[in-house]
Amino acid sequence: MNVVTQEQRKESDQATRFRVNGRPVAIEAAASSRLSSVLREDLQLTGTKVGCDAGDCGACTVLLDGAQVCSCMLPLGQVEGREITTIEGLESGGLSALQASFLRHGAAQCGICTPGMVMAAASLLAKTPRPSAAEAEEALGGVLCRCTGYRKIIAAVCDAWRPQDGEATAESGKAVGAAVLRLDGRPKVTGRDLFGADWAPEDALSVRVLRSPHHHAAFSFGDFAAWLEKQADIDLVLTADDIPGRNAFGVIPPFADQPALATSPARFRGEAVALIAGKAATVEALDLDDFPIQWEPLPAVLTSDEAQAAAAPQLHPERPNNLLTSGYVECGEPETAMAAAAHRITGSVETSYVEHAYIEPEAGASWMEGDILVIQACTQAPGMDRGDTAALLGLPEERVRIIPTATGGGFGSKLDLSLQPLLGLVTLKTGRPARLVYSRHESMISTTKRHPAKQKAELAADAEGRVTAFIFDGDFNTGAYASWGPTVANRVPVHATGPYRTPNYRGIGRAIHSNGPISGAFRGFGVPQAAILQETLYDEMAERCGLDRLEFRILNAFVDGDRTATGQTLAGVGIRDCLEALREPWQDALAVAEAQKEDAGHIKRGVGVASCWYGCGNTSLSNPSTIKVGIAADGSVVLHQGAVDIGQGSNTVIAQICADALGLPLADFRLLGGDTAITPDAGKTSASRQTYVSGKAAQLAGAALRAAVLRHANVSAAAALSLDGHLLLVRDKGAERRLDLSALPQDENGYVFAAMETYDPPTTTLDEKGQGIPYAVYGYGAQMVELEVDCRLGTVRPLRFVAAHDLGRVINPLLAEGQIEGGIAQGIGLALMEEYVPGRTENLHDYLIPSIGDVPEIHSILIEKPDPEGPFGAKGLGEHALIPTAPAILNAIRHATGARITRLPALPHRVLEAIQAAGAGA
Ligand code: FES
Repeated sequence: MNVVTQEQRKESDQATRFRVNGRPVAIEAAASSRLSSVLREDLQLTGTKVGCDAGDCGACTVLLDGAQVCSCMLPLGQVEGREITTIEGLESGGLSALQASFLRHGAAQCGICTPGMVMAAASLLAKTPRPSAAEAEEALGGVLCRCTGYRKIIAAVCDAWRPQDGEATAESGKAVGAAVLRLDGRPKVTGRDLFGADWAPEDALSVRVLRSPHHHAAFSFGDFAAWLEKQADIDLVLTADDIPGRNAFGVIPPFADQPALATSPARFRGEAVALIAGKAATVEALDLDDFPIQWEPLPAVLTSDEAQAAAAPQLHPERPNNLLTSGYVECGEPETAMAAAAHRITGSVETSYVEHAYIEPEAGASWMEGDILVIQACTQAPGMDRGDTAALLGLPEERVRIIPTATGGGFGSKLDLSLQPLLGLVTLKTGRPARLVYSRHESMISTTKRHPAKQKAELAADAEGRVTAFIFDGDFNTGAYASWGPTVANRVPVHATGPYRTPNYRGIGRAIHSNGPISGAFRGFGVPQAAILQETLYDEMAERCGLDRLEFRILNAFVDGDRTATGQTLAGVGIRDCLEALREPWQDALAVAEAQKEDAGHIKRGVGVASCWYGCGNTSLSNPSTIKVGIAADGSVVLHQGAVDIGQGSNTVIAQICADALGLPLADFRLLGGDTAITPDAGKTSASRQTYVSGKAAQLAGAALRAAVLRHANVSAAAALSLDGHLLLVRDKGAERRLDLSALPQDENGYVFAAMETYDPPTTTLDEKGQGIPYAVYGYGAQMVELEVDCRLGTVRPLRFVAAHDLGRVINPLLAEGQIEGGIAQGIGLALMEEYVPGRTENLHDYLIPSIGDVPEIHSILIEKPDPEGPFGAKGLGEHALIPTAPAILNAIRHATGARITRLPALPHRVLEAIQAAGAGA
């Protein structure tokens, strides 16, 4: 395709002429071309994002003559003579009021959906400048967001008319605790953030991946040379034979088993087996039906039960019975305590594959810089990407540089390698730049999922309602390769008690291979599944004991000095505070539900509650973060911040912590991103570790830098620092010293003062009974929900959540609320909607995630019970926020109807079955 401005173009009968952001353009391209593609590739208006190319996600929303439209579904031929407005057209010398409102409300997290949201909102505001929440919901209903939970987006749209009262800033020493705006927020609300698909070198080869259409199949290749002979503009085909290094990667080195390109057999549907690279248009249009590959489908096992059957195919012969690994924790004498208990109940719960469904499919580019292979792509773990890619490609790590782009959601799945080694292989083999953008379908079939779980448990309590014993057993379908299966198997038994005293306990978690999709990390590493069973059993036990369900939890909740099932003595425990914070809304909600009980209609109201706890960081493994900070000669404070911000806010939070430790205002800080060439390794963005682990490293680095400055100035620890251009002012005991930074010697990075510190959480390995200190810090939370169940249809409508979370120290309340709301939205999906079925729900039309109308009002209560280890007392939050949501919903369904849901998601047919089983139908 070619683009010329109207002024420049020669008249062409094929050109489509229209206006974009007020500017006339003429595009010579097929009338069937997607407008989204024309905007992005021809006009370089990459503020318009693409999430599905099917009109399902709305990320590509633009205005057509003022009305919102999915540009991926609009053929170029239909825009002749029309006016298109993209997000680039909203700015005139600064942010529009709507964009400023998005920034002010924290309505953009990862930012990939933000341009679509903003454009949909712009069409509404043009007609209705002061919309109601219902009008905003209606107008934005076609745009999906996986991060925010929508509530802040609605608030931003409804509030856009208000005059600005300036951006929130924080005084020196008061950054921690302030609701400062996201430091990386402006490019998100303007569409200027650079995501994986937004840029590639001009002459980049386009890469296409050939994938297995079968769950399990042997394959063999034919004559590539003969096939290539027939293809114009296809440069090469690569297979596993072309991989120069060790063709096995994995996030946990002892379990590394996944090939970047499979050798026969392929073990799951979607597994990559070959790469084809060439000219973009040709590669995209390629019909692969005649590609020389022969498939021979083999028997496949898709569930953990099938995988453990005697005749099941063994995916990895060295792992008998398809058992990848198991985790185990035991304390006390569970059987004896069970036998002696006043009350004893059992239960089981099964959960499904859940797709991460981030709005940005994987994308990136690669090129050579001298003998350095550069890969620029979306990721949660640049350091890990570098190590694994180098090993696969047979390169020393120093020859691989990973530059993370903005990442349009990850939630765990972008921890694993995806396209990095594939891009790298093409560039290494050809010496040419390469570009790879996964389609939505490709993203869904090839990347990791939440583990389906099959769990059973037994719970015992004494006559007063104190839990005396718990036995938990869970099988987690980990799919074809290890990924994070060992982490899930080990983390679940530690957490399965919930945040409650459990003197006698046994927990077993197994990771079992199957030919299903690979299960990996997804917000909680198996803990959300285990909490569903434990928390629903807690509701039943409370009733059995004749106690209020909330009070039963408060009675059993951990307090400081309690010991966990692994024998760890806890400090800074906030679960009781969280539960007590719910007392008032809980009693109010129960009263409302009680009042409606007499209503004989088919709509029943229920109230549910559930708790969470979650250890921050890796389980019993080293997981250090390193942060570097320097003061440059021009007076800027440069933070080398390698903790990838995938929307959760680490760029802002870690800078806030460092600013207060250093004693300079946040406004003086400049961030350098996660580029492995310029940023020390801050580890991966997972396990709710960045605020705590990287935050602690930032606190230490800030303090070390402060100490260096104070030493140089020969002043006391109480001295106050400030910057005035290149002057560093040091005030101490009524005197002021003015350090001219431009006149002082600089290090090789141009810093006059610099510090780099590493922090690794103090944990211990677990012994054979799972005893030890798996995490240095835990976070806690409790959520309650009010909902309605339609007993004729089986539909469930959440009405309101109240969420109390203990953050130890709230670093940024605006971002914390955003995490809670986003976690609850994903929890609603886990509970009520989301079920990934390989071969059936491989797009965002058949796989449903919560849309704006599915997430009700959320009231967040932020509790501060400082942790002795965390930076300024802070704990993690990202994963915690999802864990209580699903069990709270199931408990509310049961409260409303008596129905006990044991298979998730609670789709209408399952709810109806459960209602009928409970004998409570309308
Ligand atoms: Fe909406 Fe990430 S902020 S998808």
